[in-house]
Amino acid sequence: MSATDSNTEGPHPGSELNAANPAQIAADFETVSGTPESRNPQDTPAGHSRMVIVDPANPSTEVLREAAEVIRRGGLVAFPTETVYGLGAHALDVDATSRVFSVKGRPSTDPLIVHVVSVEQARKLTRTWDDRAEQLAQRFWPGPLTMVLPKGNVVPDDITAGRDTVAIRIPAHPIALGLLRESGVAIAAPSANRFGRISPTSAGDVAEELAGGYDLLLDGGPTLVGVESTVIDLTGDTAVVLRPGGVTVEDLESVIGKIVVLKRQSHAEDRDALAPGQFLRHYSPSTPLVAMDAPASVMDALAQRLRADGVTVGLIELPQRPADAARVLYSRLRAHDGTADLLIIRTMADGGIGDAVNDRIFRAAQGNVISSASDEVTGRLLNLIGR
Ligand code: TXA
Ligand code: MG
Repeated sequence: MSATDSNTEGPHPGSELNAANPAQIAADFETVSGTPESRNPQDTPAGHSRMVIVDPANPSTEVLREAAEVIRRGGLVAFPTETVYGLGAHALDVDATSRVFSVKGRPSTDPLIVHVVSVEQARKLTRTWDDRAEQLAQRFWPGPLTMVLPKGNVVPDDITAGRDTVAIRIPAHPIALGLLRESGVAIAAPSANRFGRISPTSAGDVAEELAGGYDLLLDGGPTLVGVESTVIDLTGDTAVVLRPGGVTVEDLESVIGKIVVLKRQSHAEDRDALAPGQFLRHYSPSTPLVAMDAPASVMDALAQRLRADGVTVGLIELPQRPADAARVLYSRLRAHDGTADLLIIRTMADGGIGDAVNDRIFRAAQGNVISSASDEVTGRLLNLIGR
């Protein structure tokens, strides 16, 4: 299959990335990513987008300063975090953040996450910072946890989509941290993909999605966690997980006690639902995709029936270990996109980071979950692809 599958090899610190220890973060990246020389430089095709290869474990200060300057001047820099690549802009510069919305094709009603380099900087963006925020920050930052908190006055309404809350995180990636440190400003960064599409886990993915839309792309190799940060809303008395992600619900509960996990919508009609970013169609390939919630043998049987009807079927089987599945999910979806009439991907056991993987699978499949190879299911799928 694709070169991206080499992601499955080597050590995988993934979900253990929570340690708020810069040396450990750098070491994690050293073990997983190749040296800069081992990857091929490539020119970004369209527009004025430039790409620079950066050592993820030990990024060049010179490059970070140059990127920081682009941010401070209102430009857009795409950069790796431990989860996925982000499209970054000066968070308090409304012209810059409005470009982020337009480059992504993102509706102005869907707010952006703000990245910061320290708890102190996070607090300055909020109106209140309670014990839960403090405890979670101490335990999981830098790391794949985004906290939604009452917004401070300095935060423009545009990035929060008019909400009175702001989503903040400290990413655990030497390049992201270096960029934040050198720029001295908070950086708003959604995932660097077009709206509704598969999130990017490599610089090549970013170029494929957005070439011409950013000024600079920092290529720090493949990302480690592979799915986005967990988003937790701390604005009410009960903490609510809005999006499962790199930090597990179990880990969060071990710090602040019982939390509520927002239920996945099961129907396309629910798309105006409560929380922003809960769109059913999300993380989606262009080829129709369905999720198989049954053993591999059922998936194979179904594929056989469909193939007998002349349908080309791409089967996506993820690694068993949840952290490995998370790391390769998006690259597998991307590699299979456009290669068949229909893609079928198998869900995995719930729990831990498996929850995040299943959430993304469900949305990528736009809620189309099947569990048998029956006549009814076969018929439905033929209908789905217009046969
Ligand atoms: O791992 C990540 O979080 C990546 C990397 C780049 O940091 N970023 C990311 O951003 O996934 P984005 O924009 O693709 O997803 C942010 C999610 C969206 O679902 C958005 O609706 C939600 O966070 N969000 C942002 N601000 C919010 C707020 N004030 N209240 C509720 N949800 C919010
Ligand atoms: Mg996104």
